[in-house]
Amino acid sequence: MTSMIGRPRASVAELPAYKPGKAATEAEQEHGIANAIKLASNEGPWGPLPSVQEALATNSLAINRYADPRAADLRAAIGQWVGVEANQVTVGCGSVGLIQQLFLTYVDPGDEVLYPWISFEVYPMFTQLMAGVAINPELSDHAVNLDAVVAAVSKKTKLIILANPNNPTGTAFSVRAMAKFLGSVPSDIVVVLDEAYHEFMDPALGDSIPELLAQFDNLVVLRTFSKAQGLAALRIGYAVASAALVATIDRTALPFAVNGQAQVAALGSVAAHDEVMERVQIIRNERDRMVATLRQQGWTVPASEANFVYLPLAERTTPVHLELEKAGLVTRPFPGVGLRITVSQPEDNDRVLAVLDGIEPD
Ligand SMILES: Cc1ncc(COP(=O)(O)O)c(C=O)c1O
Repeated sequence: MTSMIGRPRASVAELPAYKPGKAATEAEQEHGIANAIKLASNEGPWGPLPSVQEALATNSLAINRYADPRAADLRAAIGQWVGVEANQVTVGCGSVGLIQQLFLTYVDPGDEVLYPWISFEVYPMFTQLMAGVAINPELSDHAVNLDAVVAAVSKKTKLIILANPNNPTGTAFSVRAMAKFLGSVPSDIVVVLDEAYHEFMDPALGDSIPELLAQFDNLVVLRTFSKAQGLAALRIGYAVASAALVATIDRTALPFAVNGQAQVAALGSVAAHDEVMERVQIIRNERDRMVATLRQQGWTVPASEANFVYLPLAERTTPVHLELEKAGLVTRPFPGVGLRITVSQPEDNDRVLAVLDGIEPD
C-alpha cells in the first residue's frame, strides 16, 4: 500500500480499495493470451442503441457548457416513464453516486446500517467511510432473508439496504414480500431497494415503484442506466421515492454530478425502452440457458433474476476463476465464497460453458 499524505480520517486510512472487475487486456497480458472477454462487472455486451449514439454525437457540440444541474428534462421523462411525479425522481453519478448521497444524508458515526451479506461491496465501503456500524444478517440459501433483516433492526438503525436481485448471488424476492417487510420496519428508517438489475427480473415478481411507493414514504428505489441500457461508462443512475425523501437526498448532491452526455443518452434510452427490452430478453434467455446447462453439468447454481450467474464455490472459487481466466474469460471471484459470471452474447456464454464442462463440478 502506498503511504498517505497528511492526516486522513481514521475511516479513510483503514478503507480497503474498491476492486473493479479486471479488464480483458490486463488478463491477456497476464496470461499471454488473446481474445479475452470481460464478464466481471455485469455490463451489457452491446454499445448504445443507434438512436442513442446519434443523440450523443449531436450533443457533443455543446460540451463546453455545463449541463442542467437538476437534469430537469430527464427527471420529468423518468417520472412519466415509471408513473410518478417529476419531484419524486432524482439522478446521480451512477446509482453508486446516489448510494453515496444516501450515506452522506443519513449516516452519522455510530449509526447502524443494515444490509444482508454477501451483497454489493460498496455498502461496507460507505458504511466504513461514514464511521457507521455494519449489521449483516446472513443469506439463506444464497437469498436475502427478510425475516432475518427485520430481526436485526434496532433503535440505532438508520439505513437498510437491500439489493434485489442480490449481487453477487442473483436471487430475488417479490414486491409482495417487500410490502410485508416494509410494514414491519419503523417508518423513520430509510429503506433502500437497490434494483440495479430490475429489467432482468421476472415481471411476475412485481414492480416496486407503482406497488409500494405510494404507501411507504421511507422507501427509495434505486435503478441504473448502466446495465440493461448499456450506459455504464456514462455513469448515470436514478432514485424514485416520496417527494420529501428526494428533496432530502438532493441536499447532498455533488453539483453537476450527472454530465450532459449522460443526460442525453438516458433520455434517448427512456424513449427507446422497447428496444432496450428486446436486448434484455436475449440476455434473460441466455441466462436461463446457462443456469440449466450448468446444473446439467453438475454445478450448484442459485436461480438468477439478474444478468449474471453465481457459483457458490467456497474454497474452489479461486482455482476455478483462474482456470476460466487462463481461457480468456475474466469473471468476478469472491474468494472463499463464490464466483459471479456476467451473462453475455451466446458465443461468449458458450465459451464459459465449455470451460466449466471440462472442470469437475462441486
Ligand atoms: C447491486 C448494485 N447496485 C448498484 C450498482 C452500481 O451501478 P451504477 O453503475 O449505476 O453505479 C451495481 C453495479 O455493479 C450493483 O451491482
